[in-house]
Amino acid sequence: MPTASEVHQGQDGVRITIIGGGIAGLATAIALRSPTRTITVLERSEMLKETGALISLQPNASKIVSSWGLAPFLGLCEPLVDTAFRMFNQSGKLVRQVNLDFARFGADRVLYHRQDLHTALKNAATSTDLPGCPVEIRTASRVTSCDPYKGTVTINGGETLDADIVIGADGIHSVVRQAVVGEPREAIPTGISAYRMLLPVESLSGLKIPKDVLDIAKPVTTMVVGHDRRVIMGPGRGGKVFGIVALVPDENMHETSAAGSWVAQGSIPALLKAFAGFPAWMLEIFERAPDVGLWQLRDIDPLPRWVRGRTILIGDAAHAMLPTQGQGASQSFEDAEALQAFLADLPDGPTGQQVNEALLRVYEARHERASLIQMYSREQARPGTDVGSNKVKLDPAQFMKYNCNYSGAKNWLAAKDMGIVVEKLSLSGV
Ligand SMILES: Cc1cc2nc3c(=O)[nH]c(=O)nc-3n(C[C@H](O)[C@H](O)[C@H](O)COP(=O)(O)OP(=O)(O)OC[C@H]3O[C@@H](n4cnc5c(N)ncnc54)[C@H](O)[C@@H]3O)c2cc1C
Ligand SMILES: *[C@@H]1O[C@H](CO)[C@@H](O)[C@H](O)[C@H]1NC(C)=O
Ligand SMILES: *[C@@H]1O[C@H](CO)[C@@H](O)[C@H](O)[C@H]1NC(C)=O
Ligand SMILES: *[C@@H]1O[C@H](CO)[C@@H](O)[C@H](O)[C@H]1NC(C)=O
Repeated sequence: MPTASEVHQGQDGVRITIIGGGIAGLATAIALRSPTRTITVLERSEMLKETGALISLQPNASKIVSSWGLAPFLGLCEPLVDTAFRMFNQSGKLVRQVNLDFARFGADRVLYHRQDLHTALKNAATSTDLPGCPVEIRTASRVTSCDPYKGTVTINGGETLDADIVIGADGIHSVVRQAVVGEPREAIPTGISAYRMLLPVESLSGLKIPKDVLDIAKPVTTMVVGHDRRVIMGPGRGGKVFGIVALVPDENMHETSAAGSWVAQGSIPALLKAFAGFPAWMLEIFERAPDVGLWQLRDIDPLPRWVRGRTILIGDAAHAMLPTQGQGASQSFEDAEALQAFLADLPDGPTGQQVNEALLRVYEARHERASLIQMYSREQARPGTDVGSNKVKLDPAQFMKYNCNYSGAKNWLAAKDMGIVVEKLSLSGV
């Protein structure tokens, strides 16, 4: 098999530049691997360490990764299959249980440590054991501008790379977004902040939580829901860690940096104060956290376009969404699968028009669905109860059928062309 640079010298393959080595960029790099493609990922960081948090892949994203032959890489992550959502109200009473029987969707909801998933994707992208040329990842390569028609990108204000296809996977604060959309589209604060914690499971020993409330060893997602604040927690990394995300209104928080998602170090006393009146067992878990991060949640409105010339946006650059449905990574895998499907027949040395047409098919297949899932994620961020009411109205299963009933971009587009409407759910007042 020729190496990436030999193909490059031949100039008759397809050259692809992917901007951003996050989950979306790496998943796409893997999906597009081929003996005749030279794929370069440009990542601004040194990629030493992804932020620790748990992340889920919804059933059909799990299916997509299996179809890419990633099992040997993902197996090392000690993935856990989530079996249920259990929801408690603010006084600690179990108010809803949704068993996750995803047999009808053909795969499971799988929990990963975000860092492990990222490492596994990086190893798979650069591996010589998978079909196609290994991908080249260039770190410390910050893209400062992009000409979407020419397919050129400029790194660190100097070197320019050109390619047949440019894929903007540079996250929520994307620089490629403006080049594609033609106007600035900034990430919007949503009025919610998230504290996040990751505890070694040993640090929870000795806690006297009844097993019918929370069994740390079980792969179950536990939620405790108040009016305008809620907690989502569960195990990860084969049960070695316990991850917690606590959502609170962020009216009193002032973000200090626009650079990333994880902006500040949070304080445990402030967290405990925000959740005063919640069950004691939950607060005892918080007290044991070694540290706590604080993150202001932002998303973007659906974009009017993802494609311009030879360039397409994917992942959070295209459709950053709230984490309230845990769909961000899954949607990135769906984007990657769509690119794989619609670029499959692209000839070597493609013209700008051939590339543009293929990318527009990706947009057509993905835009409506991703935009709707952005809206559903906002809907799931609404208060968990009405003011003055005890009744928890949040239902984690509400959008599950829509989110999970997906079998690839080509099938989706074919169903749309045949006028088969996949059931949509109406949103209350959005
Ligand atoms: C705390 C947290 C919890 C989450 N939980 C879940 C979950 O449970 N389930 C789920 O599906 N999703 C979850 N998500 C969302 C999910 O991580 C993202 O939606 C998903 O990873 C796709 O991100 P991305 O690759 O598009 O962007 P990112 O992960 O942000 O990656 C973008 C990459 O581009 C790089 N970059 C940025 N600008 C440039 C530039 N100019 N030049 C070069 N490189 C650049 C960045 O350094 C970064 O590596 C969570 C996110 C967070 C922050
Ligand atoms: C929790 O649910 C129980 C039983 O339905 C109810 O009595 C209690 O008031 C609820 N607590 C809150 C804070 O909503
Ligand atoms: C999930 O994906 C698989 C393989 O891509 C497909 O066979 C199955 O029908 C999909 N399930 C749903 C509900 O879309
Ligand atoms: C998925 O959507 C199709 C098309 O609307 C429908 O026929 C099918 O029953 C759905 N499958 C599930 C598991 O909901």
